Amino acid sequence: MSVLMDGKALAAKMREKIRIQAAQYAETNGAIGLAVVLVGENPASQVYVRNKIKACEEVGIRSYSYHLPADVSETAVLALIDELVASEQVHGILVQLPLPAHLDERKILRRIPPQKDVDGFCAENVGNLAMNRDTIVACTPFGVMKLLEEYGIDPKGKSAVVLGRSNIVGKPMAMLLLNADATVTVCHSKTKNLKEICASADILVVAIGRAKFVTADMVKPGAVVIDVGMDRDENGKLCGDVDFEQVQDKASFITPVPGGVGPMTITMLLYNTVQTAMRG
Ligand code: GUN
Repeated sequence: MSVLMDGKALAAKMREKIRIQAAQYAETNGAIGLAVVLVGENPASQVYVRNKIKACEEVGIRSYSYHLPADVSETAVLALIDELVASEQVHGILVQLPLPAHLDERKILRRIPPQKDVDGFCAENVGNLAMNRDTIVACTPFGVMKLLEEYGIDPKGKSAVVLGRSNIVGKPMAMLLLNADATVTVCHSKTKNLKEICASADILVVAIGRAKFVTADMVKPGAVVIDVGMDRDENGKLCGDVDFEQVQDKASFITPVPGGVGPMTITMLLYNTVQTAMRG
């Protein structure tokens, strides 16, 4: 049997510290503020954004929520961001992705200055991460690192395989593991010998968005398996990218879905927001 990595418990512990920090900051400087911009009606994005706003309330971060119509003009989105950038009440700005196709994601994200980029998506923050400098780090991979640390798993010298190469998870995850002295391989849809590579991993991080994609034959006995997926199985039940039933007996540590990485993503957003406020 493997050890379940309880993201919910770690998130609760970290959020309590964040709540105290946010209150201390507010005493002399006023409330920390996070602006959340959602465009359109993507149901998953709506759930994520609602959870982010709720989490802000719980730790005493003031949230400013903007829900724009799916056909909003790029000019209007940019004007809103400019307003938020200028606001002293707003310390962090988050534009929920994906954006509708008519909007230029790169152009919109570039309008957020690195100092308010709580997602760690801008070129300066990504560049700092690549150079192993202190910076704002993308929330999901950052949360995975905190989970590893909590369970005493040091990536140093280990073989780490990241399945998925997105800008939001896969690439920053690979950089964080590399910065932690792991030997890192990134796999994606064009990778040959995918099963063999996965089965060589001491630490396997899966972020490809395909329900129960990772089966027991792709996991080395005793591996640490981190599941970033949020999928639906054939019965519409929430599940991850890993076939949990099959893999849990083979892994040494494994994250459940839900209750593993998910709660950590939002926690690191709160953490990053406090960081941006304190850095001023
Ligand atoms: N869409 C999926 N994950 C994320 C995230 O971490 N941040 C933002 N802004 N959009 C997302």
